[in-house]
This record gives sequence, structure tokens and C-alpha cells, in this order.
Amino acid sequence: MEEVWGSNPHSSTSWGPKSRVYLGRVSDFGMHRDISPDTFQSHASSFGQEAALYAESRPDYPDAAVLWALEPVAGRSPLRVLDLGAGTGKLTEALLRHAGEVVAVEPDPAMLGELRRWLPEVRALGGSAEEIPLPDGSVDAILVGQAMHWFDLDRAAPEMARVLTPGGVLAGLWNTHDDRVPWVAELSRVSDRSIRTFRDWSPEGFDLAMPRFPAIEHAAFPHAHRRTAESLVATIATHSQVLLLPEADRSALDGRITSYLRSLPETAEGEFDVPLVTAVIRGVVAS
Ligand SMILES: C[S@@+](CC[C@H](N)C(=O)[O-])C[C@H]1O[C@@H](n2cnc3c(N)ncnc32)[C@H](O)[C@@H]1O
Repeated sequence: MEEVWGSNPHSSTSWGPKSRVYLGRVSDFGMHRDISPDTFQSHASSFGQEAALYAESRPDYPDAAVLWALEPVAGRSPLRVLDLGAGTGKLTEALLRHAGEVVAVEPDPAMLGELRRWLPEVRALGGSAEEIPLPDGSVDAILVGQAMHWFDLDRAAPEMARVLTPGGVLAGLWNTHDDRVPWVAELSRVSDRSIRTFRDWSPEGFDLAMPRFPAIEHAAFPHAHRRTAESLVATIATHSQVLLLPEADRSALDGRITSYLRSLPETAEGEFDVPLVTAVIRGVVAS
């Protein structure tokens, strides 16, 4: 499996270590090794086509991961947090437990609609990481769930730095499948790597890509997602590389995953825990 390093089509800088942005593995983009800006954009904006399924099927985030992300600004009151690329509000919901004020920003109208339906009390705005509809210095923390790899970091990094207060923190969180567990590693193979796995994940690149967030730390937190064979297939169907498959390929993939899960004692029947690791990076904005 090859990694996709530095091929962010948005990047204005040349190929090389200084311009590297972690985009995940080839699996994140199906067969597209050298992805064009159009392909990248179609993946980044694919989630809304199954917004309700996304809301129903994707995992939430563990409190320990959220608290670690917020640690550099813990104690501020009221703690003002932006959930950027908020989708249907999976991370927003966790933030409501730990922040005084939460605002969500999301570019996709269908995802935003689900968020507003699910969390009507949250201030939810249309916008993107590259154009955040908030004033300068207006939030203490920006948390990004499963979305930072879709940002054009050349534009988003200064924009995120702009809306943070001095000493504010930016954090990215990813729910990865724990492929140190053998059946999960095999699931990754059976699904043509349609799932993001922990051993594939790497924090490398973000410190290079973001001079405004010079010291990037990372941490990982155990997590789990309670699923059945059917609902796990539905979850995987919300991943961008599956959303964009032709119908026949998608249903063949569903069939392969279902047969595999039915063949295992751990997952053949009823509910089981899918082992996840929530990987987090955080960095305090440069003064
Ligand atoms: C995998 S979903 C994650 C949603 C949510 N944060 C979660 O944890 O479930 C990725 C989200 O990033 C959003 N997105 C894509 N490009 C973006 C950008 N440039 N700025 C902000 N959000 C973006 C998509 O619309 C989508 O809702």
C-alpha cells in the first residue's frame, strides 16, 4: 500500500518535505494515486449525498480525546470552541459537554441540515476552513473531526490562526480502525482498504504544513463503535471512496464485507464492538 504524501492538489508549494500534507493512504481515495483537484474536491464534498446515513452510522468521539485536545485552553471561561468541518455534528455533540460556547461550521448544506436537525441549540453556520465566517480572535479552540485532510492547508492554516485567540489551540481528531486487532486488519484488506486504519495513520506532515502551529503534539485514545454486520457495512458505505463507487462496485463491496463478517465468530451475529483508536493532533497558535 502506498501512501499519499504531498499530493494535495491545493498546495501552492512544490513537491518536497516542506510542502508535505498528510492526506492518508491511497485507500482514502480509491484507485486515485495522483488525484486531480477535481477528484479531491469530489471526495471532499461527497458526504452530503448520504447525510442521514452518515448521522446514523458514523462513530462519536471519546471524551478523553476531546479533553486532551482542549487541555491547552482548559480553565478559560467561557471556553469558546469552533467545530470546523462539523458534518452532522458527531464531534459537536461531545464538545457541548466540555465547552461553554460551541459554534459549528460546515460547507455541505445537507450535512449542515442534519446537524441543525440533531442539535438545534447549536449555532451552525455555512462556511469552510478556507473561509471561516467568524471574526478575528473569536474562539479559544478549533476542533476538526475527520476533516482536516480535506482542507487546503495553505489557505486554511492562516484562516484558522486568524479566528483563534492568543494561545488558542487547533486540534484534529480521526477515528481510525484498530488494525492491531487481526480481524480488523483483515477487514481492511477485504474492503479494499475502504477503512482508515490506525497503523496507516500518521501525524507527520501537519507540523511542516502549518508554520502557524509550530509545535504539534499527538496522542491516541482507545475507542469502540457498537455495530452489527449490517450497520458496519452501512458505516463503511459513508466513507468517501465508497460513496463515489459505481453502484455495482459498491454492492459487490458490501457483499464481500458482509460475507467476511458473517464468517467470523466475533462478528457473525448480533452486536459487537469495532475497536477504534481516536488519533489526535494539537498545536497552539504561534504568537
Ligand atoms: C468525514 S466528514 C466529518 C464530519 C464530522 N466532523 C465528523 O466528525 O463526523 C468530513 C467533513 O468535512 C467537510 N469538509 C470538506 N472539505 C472541507 C473544507 N474545506 N472546510 C471545512 N469542511 C470541509 C465535509 O463537508 C464533511 O462534512
